[in-house]
Amino acid sequence: MKVLFVCLGNICRSPTAEAVLRALSEKAVTNVEVDSAGTAAFHIGCAPDVRTQKAASLRGMDMSPLTARQVCIEDFQRFDYIFAMDKQNLNDLNDLRPDSSHAELALFLEVYGTTGCDEVPDPYYGQEDGFERVLDLLTGACEVFLEDKVKAK
Ligand code: 4NP
Repeated sequence: MKVLFVCLGNICRSPTAEAVLRALSEKAVTNVEVDSAGTAAFHIGCAPDVRTQKAASLRGMDMSPLTARQVCIEDFQRFDYIFAMDKQNLNDLNDLRPDSSHAELALFLEVYGTTGCDEVPDPYYGQEDGFERVLDLLTGACEVFLEDKVKAK
């Protein structure tokens, strides 16, 4: 199973989702291929935001090897699931999506969220606690996703 998470810059939310799902699937010994990308090009080649890396490292995840990239048309053929972090990301992905794509495209928290919040708030211009909130929201949803799609099989 191949999963792509998408946000705007690919330096805060979607690489966090990638790290969380990878860590949880390794712990559960399941074979999930996971990646992330941004709809925008501004941060291509950059490591995750230092605040994102710090919050993740406090939960045992090393995000330093990750580098930002922009979503591309091939992603719609390569991945089984493409999950947007917010509604703007989802609109942008729907605009890019070729008719031939069979990928399931969705707002991640709308389908798998556990708090009633359907978007992952962008922490980039906010305070430190925004990064904790991103981790909390994504951890809950990734657990539900794994339970639903992998462990149930
Ligand atoms: P992300 O956060 O989409 O979660 O990676 C952002 C990163 C950078 C910017 C905005 C959001 N920016 O405007 O540069």
